[in-house]
Amino acid sequence: MSEKKRILTGDRTTGKLHLGHYVGSLQNRVRLQDEYESFILLADIQALTTHFEHPELLEHSIYEVAMDNLSVGLDPNKITLVQQSRIPSIGELTVFYSMLVSVNSLRHNPTIKTEAANYGYNDMTYGFLGYPVSQSADITFCKANLVPVGEDQKPHMEMTRKIVRRFNELYGETLVEPDMMLSDCPRLMGLDGNAKMGKSLGNAIYLSDPAEEVRKKVMSAVTDASRIKKDDPGHPDICVVSKYHKVFNAGEYENICESCKKGAIGCVACKKALASALSALLEPFREKRAYYEAHRDEVRDIILTGSEKANKIGNETVKEVKEAMHIYIGD
Ligand code: TRP
Ligand code: SF4
Repeated sequence: MSEKKRILTGDRTTGKLHLGHYVGSLQNRVRLQDEYESFILLADIQALTTHFEHPELLEHSIYEVAMDNLSVGLDPNKITLVQQSRIPSIGELTVFYSMLVSVNSLRHNPTIKTEAANYGYNDMTYGFLGYPVSQSADITFCKANLVPVGEDQKPHMEMTRKIVRRFNELYGETLVEPDMMLSDCPRLMGLDGNAKMGKSLGNAIYLSDPAEEVRKKVMSAVTDASRIKKDDPGHPDICVVSKYHKVFNAGEYENICESCKKGAIGCVACKKALASALSALLEPFREKRAYYEAHRDEVRDIILTGSEKANKIGNETVKEVKEAMHIYIGD
Protein backbone atom coordinates (compact mmCIF):
# COMPACT_ATOMS: atom_id res chain seq x y z
CA MET A 1 0.00 0.00 0.00
CA SER A 2 1.08 3.53 -0.70
CA GLU A 3 2.73 5.53 2.08
CA LYS A 4 1.24 8.77 0.92
CA LYS A 5 -1.66 10.43 2.66
CA ARG A 6 -4.86 10.61 0.71
CA ILE A 7 -6.87 13.41 -0.79
CA LEU A 8 -10.45 13.08 -1.85
CA THR A 9 -12.26 15.94 -3.49
CA GLY A 10 -14.64 16.36 -6.36
CA ASP A 11 -17.32 18.17 -8.25
CA ARG A 12 -20.96 17.71 -9.07
CA THR A 13 -21.40 16.74 -12.67
CA THR A 14 -24.03 19.34 -13.43
CA GLY A 15 -22.04 21.15 -16.13
CA LYS A 16 -18.58 22.36 -16.99
CA LEU A 17 -16.31 23.94 -14.40
CA HIS A 18 -15.33 27.61 -14.30
CA LEU A 19 -12.51 29.85 -13.02
CA GLY A 20 -14.12 29.93 -9.56
CA HIS A 21 -13.68 26.15 -9.33
CA TYR A 22 -10.11 26.53 -10.54
CA VAL A 23 -8.95 29.02 -7.92
CA GLY A 24 -11.11 27.46 -5.20
CA SER A 25 -10.02 23.86 -5.60
CA LEU A 26 -8.55 22.62 -8.90
CA GLN A 27 -5.36 24.62 -8.50
CA ASN A 28 -4.74 22.96 -5.14
CA ARG A 29 -5.42 19.54 -6.61
CA VAL A 30 -2.75 20.09 -9.23
CA ARG A 31 -0.28 21.38 -6.68
CA LEU A 32 -0.82 18.44 -4.34
CA GLN A 33 -0.99 15.58 -6.81
CA ASP A 34 2.60 14.45 -6.19
CA GLU A 35 2.52 14.76 -2.45
CA TYR A 36 -0.80 12.94 -1.90
CA GLU A 37 -2.53 9.96 -3.40
CA SER A 38 -5.44 11.86 -4.91
CA PHE A 39 -8.96 10.73 -5.67
CA ILE A 40 -11.10 13.11 -7.73
CA LEU A 41 -14.77 12.31 -7.56
CA LEU A 42 -17.19 12.89 -10.42
CA ALA A 43 -20.17 13.36 -8.14
CA ASP A 44 -22.99 12.25 -10.40
CA ILE A 45 -25.27 11.06 -7.60
CA GLN A 46 -24.96 14.44 -5.92
CA ALA A 47 -25.72 15.99 -9.32
CA LEU A 48 -28.99 14.04 -9.30
CA THR A 49 -30.04 15.73 -6.06
CA THR A 50 -30.65 18.94 -8.01
CA HIS A 51 -30.77 17.74 -11.62
CA PHE A 52 -32.71 14.47 -11.55
CA GLU A 53 -35.21 15.95 -13.98
CA HIS A 54 -32.47 16.67 -16.51
CA PRO A 55 -30.99 13.31 -17.47
CA GLU A 56 -30.01 14.71 -20.87
CA LEU A 57 -27.33 16.80 -19.20
CA LEU A 58 -25.80 14.20 -16.95
CA GLU A 59 -23.76 11.87 -19.15
CA HIS A 60 -22.31 14.78 -21.07
CA SER A 61 -21.35 16.53 -17.83
CA ILE A 62 -19.48 13.50 -16.50
CA TYR A 63 -17.12 13.83 -19.47
CA GLU A 64 -16.96 17.62 -19.24
CA VAL A 65 -15.98 17.60 -15.58
CA ALA A 66 -13.48 14.78 -16.15
CA MET A 67 -11.89 16.77 -18.99
CA ASP A 68 -11.89 19.97 -16.93
CA ASN A 69 -9.85 18.19 -14.29
CA LEU A 70 -7.49 16.58 -16.77
CA SER A 71 -7.00 19.72 -18.82
CA VAL A 72 -5.86 21.90 -15.91
CA GLY A 73 -2.95 19.54 -15.38
CA LEU A 74 -4.09 16.64 -13.25
CA ASP A 75 -2.08 13.72 -14.53
CA PRO A 76 -4.13 10.55 -15.07
CA ASN A 77 -1.04 8.52 -14.14
CA LYS A 78 -0.95 10.14 -10.73
CA ILE A 79 -4.54 10.87 -9.75
CA THR A 80 -7.55 8.57 -9.68
CA LEU A 81 -10.78 9.74 -11.29
CA VAL A 82 -13.79 8.12 -9.68
CA GLN A 83 -17.40 8.10 -10.85
CA GLN A 84 -19.54 8.25 -7.74
CA SER A 85 -22.40 6.08 -9.02
CA ARG A 86 -19.96 3.28 -9.83
CA ILE A 87 -18.98 2.96 -6.17
CA PRO A 88 -21.63 0.92 -4.30
CA SER A 89 -19.72 1.27 -1.03
CA ILE A 90 -20.53 5.01 -1.04
CA GLY A 91 -24.22 4.15 -1.08
CA GLU A 92 -23.80 1.58 1.68
CA LEU A 93 -21.87 3.94 3.92
CA THR A 94 -24.46 6.65 3.31
CA VAL A 95 -27.15 4.38 4.75
CA PHE A 96 -25.05 3.49 7.80
CA TYR A 97 -24.10 7.11 8.47
CA SER A 98 -27.71 8.25 8.14
CA MET A 99 -28.38 6.68 11.54
CA LEU A 100 -25.86 9.03 13.11
CA VAL A 101 -27.23 12.29 11.68
CA SER A 102 -30.28 14.16 12.91
CA VAL A 103 -32.74 15.63 10.43
CA ASN A 104 -32.50 18.94 12.27
CA SER A 105 -28.75 19.19 11.78
CA LEU A 106 -29.33 18.81 8.02
CA ARG A 107 -32.13 21.36 8.02
CA HIS A 108 -29.82 23.87 9.74
CA ASN A 109 -26.87 23.29 7.42
CA PRO A 110 -26.18 26.78 5.98
CA THR A 111 -25.07 25.51 2.57
CA ILE A 112 -28.20 23.39 2.23
CA LYS A 113 -30.27 26.43 3.18
CA THR A 114 -28.58 28.72 0.65
CA GLU A 115 -28.80 26.16 -2.14
CA ALA A 116 -32.43 25.34 -1.37
CA ALA A 117 -33.24 29.06 -1.55
CA ASN A 118 -31.30 29.45 -4.83
CA TYR A 119 -33.13 26.52 -6.40
CA GLY A 120 -36.45 27.70 -4.98
CA TYR A 121 -37.13 24.48 -3.07
CA ASN A 122 -39.88 24.85 -0.52
CA ASP A 123 -40.37 21.12 -0.15
CA MET A 124 -36.92 19.55 -0.34
CA THR A 125 -36.44 15.95 -1.39
CA TYR A 126 -35.00 13.49 1.07
CA GLY A 127 -32.06 13.02 -1.30
CA PHE A 128 -31.23 16.71 -1.48
CA LEU A 129 -31.56 17.29 2.27
CA GLY A 130 -29.37 14.27 2.91
CA TYR A 131 -26.61 14.85 0.39
CA PRO A 132 -24.12 15.99 3.06
CA VAL A 133 -24.38 12.47 4.51
CA SER A 134 -23.60 11.02 1.12
CA GLN A 135 -20.70 13.47 0.83
CA SER A 136 -19.36 12.13 4.13
CA ALA A 137 -19.40 8.68 2.55
CA ASP A 138 -17.56 10.09 -0.51
CA ILE A 139 -14.78 11.32 1.71
CA THR A 140 -14.50 8.37 4.06
CA PHE A 141 -14.83 5.40 1.71
CA CYS A 142 -11.13 5.81 0.92
CA LYS A 143 -10.23 7.15 4.38
CA ALA A 144 -9.15 10.49 2.95
CA ASN A 145 -6.93 12.65 5.16
CA LEU A 146 -7.38 15.92 3.30
CA VAL A 147 -10.19 17.54 1.33
CA PRO A 148 -9.32 20.65 -0.75
CA VAL A 149 -12.59 22.51 -1.26
CA GLY A 150 -14.18 25.93 -1.37
CA GLU A 151 -15.54 27.74 1.65
CA ASP A 152 -19.15 26.75 0.97
CA GLN A 153 -18.22 23.14 1.76
CA LYS A 154 -17.29 23.90 5.35
CA PRO A 155 -20.60 22.75 6.90
CA HIS A 156 -20.31 19.46 5.02
CA MET A 157 -16.77 18.98 6.28
CA GLU A 158 -17.90 19.62 9.83
CA MET A 159 -20.64 17.05 9.43
CA THR A 160 -18.18 14.52 8.01
CA ARG A 161 -15.82 14.99 10.93
CA LYS A 162 -18.69 14.65 13.37
CA ILE A 163 -19.93 11.44 11.77
CA VAL A 164 -16.43 9.98 11.88
CA ARG A 165 -15.98 10.87 15.54
CA ARG A 166 -19.39 9.50 16.49
CA PHE A 167 -18.82 6.29 14.54
CA ASN A 168 -15.40 5.69 16.07
CA GLU A 169 -16.70 6.46 19.52
CA LEU A 170 -19.62 4.05 19.17
CA TYR A 171 -17.94 1.18 17.32
CA GLY A 172 -14.20 1.62 17.83
CA GLU A 173 -11.51 3.39 15.79
CA THR A 174 -12.41 2.55 12.19
CA LEU A 175 -12.76 5.71 10.10
CA VAL A 176 -10.29 8.53 9.45
CA GLU A 177 -11.20 12.10 10.39
CA PRO A 178 -10.35 14.30 7.41
CA ASP A 179 -8.99 17.85 7.38
CA MET A 180 -10.33 20.54 5.12
CA MET A 181 -7.99 22.60 2.95
CA LEU A 182 -9.22 26.01 1.86
CA SER A 183 -7.50 27.79 -1.00
CA ASP A 184 -5.88 31.22 -0.57
CA CYS A 185 -8.62 32.55 -2.76
CA PRO A 186 -11.69 30.70 -1.56
CA ARG A 187 -14.17 32.83 -3.45
CA LEU A 188 -13.92 34.45 -6.86
CA MET A 189 -16.34 37.32 -7.53
CA GLY A 190 -18.31 37.47 -10.73
CA LEU A 191 -17.13 40.01 -13.31
CA ASP A 192 -20.63 41.46 -13.10
CA GLY A 193 -19.91 42.46 -9.50
CA ASN A 194 -21.86 39.57 -7.98
CA ALA A 195 -20.18 38.21 -4.85
CA LYS A 196 -19.81 34.80 -6.46
CA MET A 197 -19.03 33.33 -9.85
CA GLY A 198 -21.62 30.73 -10.65
CA LYS A 199 -23.18 28.90 -13.53
CA SER A 200 -26.68 29.70 -12.34
CA LEU A 201 -25.70 33.36 -11.93
CA GLY A 202 -24.78 33.59 -15.62
CA ASN A 203 -21.45 35.26 -14.88
CA ALA A 204 -19.02 32.38 -15.22
CA ILE A 205 -15.85 32.14 -17.28
CA TYR A 206 -15.54 28.46 -18.10
CA LEU A 207 -12.23 26.67 -18.25
CA SER A 208 -13.31 25.46 -21.66
CA ASP A 209 -14.35 28.88 -23.02
CA PRO A 210 -12.61 29.81 -26.28
CA ALA A 211 -10.19 32.77 -26.11
CA GLU A 212 -12.60 35.15 -27.85
CA GLU A 213 -15.37 34.30 -25.39
CA VAL A 214 -13.09 35.01 -22.44
CA ARG A 215 -12.06 38.34 -23.95
CA LYS A 216 -15.71 39.33 -24.45
CA LYS A 217 -16.64 38.42 -20.89
CA VAL A 218 -13.71 40.38 -19.50
CA MET A 219 -14.45 43.45 -21.64
CA SER A 220 -18.04 43.51 -20.36
CA ALA A 221 -16.97 43.56 -16.69
CA VAL A 222 -18.37 46.31 -14.50
CA THR A 223 -15.75 48.77 -13.26
CA ASP A 224 -15.57 51.84 -11.05
CA ALA A 225 -18.68 53.71 -12.24
CA SER A 226 -17.26 57.09 -11.22
CA ARG A 227 -14.70 56.93 -14.04
CA ILE A 228 -16.19 58.67 -17.04
CA LYS A 229 -13.08 59.84 -18.82
CA LYS A 230 -9.95 57.75 -19.20
CA ASP A 231 -7.88 60.06 -17.00
CA ASP A 232 -10.41 60.32 -14.14
CA PRO A 233 -8.77 58.94 -11.00
CA GLY A 234 -10.15 55.44 -10.28
CA HIS A 235 -10.84 53.35 -7.20
CA PRO A 236 -9.36 49.91 -7.79
CA ASP A 237 -10.43 48.79 -4.32
CA ILE A 238 -14.07 48.81 -5.43
CA CYS A 239 -13.41 47.42 -8.92
CA VAL A 240 -13.75 43.72 -9.62
CA VAL A 241 -11.25 43.91 -12.49
CA SER A 242 -8.51 44.82 -10.03
CA LYS A 243 -9.49 41.85 -7.87
CA TYR A 244 -9.00 39.61 -10.86
CA HIS A 245 -5.59 41.16 -11.54
CA LYS A 246 -4.67 40.31 -7.98
CA VAL A 247 -5.47 36.65 -8.57
CA PHE A 248 -4.48 36.13 -12.20
CA ASN A 249 -1.89 38.85 -12.84
CA ALA A 250 -0.34 39.21 -9.40
CA GLY A 251 2.97 40.62 -10.68
CA GLU A 252 1.24 43.64 -12.22
CA TYR A 253 -1.38 44.14 -9.53
CA GLU A 254 0.31 46.94 -7.56
CA ASN A 255 1.24 48.79 -10.74
CA ILE A 256 -2.24 48.61 -12.12
CA CYS A 257 -3.80 49.90 -8.91
CA GLU A 258 -1.38 52.83 -8.80
CA SER A 259 -1.98 53.71 -12.45
CA CYS A 260 -5.73 53.45 -11.97
CA LYS A 261 -5.67 55.76 -8.95
CA LYS A 262 -3.66 58.33 -10.92
CA GLY A 263 -5.90 58.05 -13.94
CA ALA A 264 -2.89 56.85 -15.94
CA ILE A 265 -4.54 53.70 -17.27
CA GLY A 266 -7.98 53.45 -18.87
CA CYS A 267 -10.42 50.68 -18.09
CA VAL A 268 -10.25 49.29 -21.60
CA ALA A 269 -6.49 48.87 -21.42
CA CYS A 270 -6.79 47.46 -17.92
CA LYS A 271 -9.30 44.85 -19.06
CA LYS A 272 -7.19 43.97 -22.08
CA ALA A 273 -4.28 43.29 -19.77
CA LEU A 274 -6.49 41.02 -17.69
CA ALA A 275 -7.78 39.21 -20.76
CA SER A 276 -4.23 38.45 -21.85
CA ALA A 277 -3.26 37.25 -18.36
CA LEU A 278 -6.23 34.89 -18.43
CA SER A 279 -5.26 33.74 -21.90
CA ALA A 280 -1.81 32.83 -20.64
CA LEU A 281 -3.39 30.71 -17.93
CA LEU A 282 -6.08 29.08 -20.07
CA GLU A 283 -4.20 28.41 -23.31
CA PRO A 284 -2.31 25.35 -22.04
CA PHE A 285 -5.60 24.02 -20.66
CA ARG A 286 -7.18 24.38 -24.10
CA GLU A 287 -4.41 22.38 -25.68
CA LYS A 288 -4.78 19.50 -23.24
CA ARG A 289 -8.53 19.64 -23.59
CA ALA A 290 -8.35 19.41 -27.36
CA TYR A 291 -6.41 16.16 -26.92
CA TYR A 292 -8.99 14.64 -24.60
CA GLU A 293 -11.91 15.86 -26.73
CA ALA A 294 -10.36 13.89 -29.56
CA HIS A 295 -9.76 10.84 -27.34
CA ARG A 296 -13.00 10.38 -25.44
CA ASP A 297 -12.45 6.63 -25.17
CA GLU A 298 -9.30 7.34 -23.25
CA VAL A 299 -11.24 9.58 -20.86
CA ARG A 300 -13.78 6.82 -20.35
CA ASP A 301 -11.02 4.29 -19.64
CA ILE A 302 -9.46 6.62 -17.10
CA ILE A 303 -12.81 6.87 -15.30
CA LEU A 304 -13.52 3.14 -15.46
CA THR A 305 -10.06 2.12 -14.27
CA GLY A 306 -10.09 4.71 -11.52
CA SER A 307 -13.51 3.64 -10.31
CA GLU A 308 -12.43 0.02 -10.22
CA LYS A 309 -9.46 0.90 -8.05
CA ALA A 310 -11.71 2.97 -5.76
CA ASN A 311 -14.16 0.08 -5.49
CA LYS A 312 -11.55 -2.24 -4.04
CA ILE A 313 -10.72 0.32 -1.39
CA GLY A 314 -14.38 1.15 -0.69
CA ASN A 315 -15.40 -2.49 -0.35
CA GLU A 316 -12.61 -3.02 2.14
CA THR A 317 -13.81 -0.02 4.17
CA VAL A 318 -17.41 -1.27 4.16
CA LYS A 319 -16.25 -4.63 5.42
CA GLU A 320 -14.39 -2.97 8.30
CA VAL A 321 -17.40 -0.76 9.02
CA LYS A 322 -19.75 -3.75 9.11
CA GLU A 323 -17.39 -5.65 11.36
CA ALA A 324 -17.18 -2.69 13.71
CA MET A 325 -20.97 -2.48 13.77
CA HIS A 326 -21.28 -6.21 14.44
CA ILE A 327 -23.36 -6.95 11.36
CA TYR A 328 -20.71 -8.88 9.43
CA ILE A 329 -20.95 -12.64 9.71
CA GLY A 330 -18.36 -13.62 7.09
CA ASP A 331 -18.19 -14.26 3.33
N1 TRP B 1 -20.38 19.34 -2.86
C1 TRP B 1 -19.22 19.54 -3.71
C2 TRP B 1 -19.51 20.81 -4.57
O1 TRP B 1 -20.65 21.20 -4.72
C3 TRP B 1 -18.91 18.39 -4.60
C4 TRP B 1 -18.54 17.14 -3.85
C5 TRP B 1 -19.23 15.96 -3.83
C6 TRP B 1 -17.40 16.97 -3.02
N2 TRP B 1 -18.60 15.05 -3.07
C7 TRP B 1 -17.47 15.63 -2.55
C8 TRP B 1 -16.35 17.79 -2.64
C9 TRP B 1 -16.51 15.14 -1.66
C10 TRP B 1 -15.38 17.28 -1.76
C11 TRP B 1 -15.47 15.97 -1.28
O2 TRP B 1 -18.58 21.36 -5.11
FE1 SF4 C 1 -11.03 48.94 -12.59
FE2 SF4 C 1 -8.85 48.80 -14.05
FE3 SF4 C 1 -10.73 50.61 -14.60
FE4 SF4 C 1 -9.22 50.85 -12.44
S1 SF4 C 1 -8.51 50.93 -14.56
S2 SF4 C 1 -11.44 51.12 -12.52
S3 SF4 C 1 -8.92 48.72 -11.84
S4 SF4 C 1 -10.92 48.40 -14.76
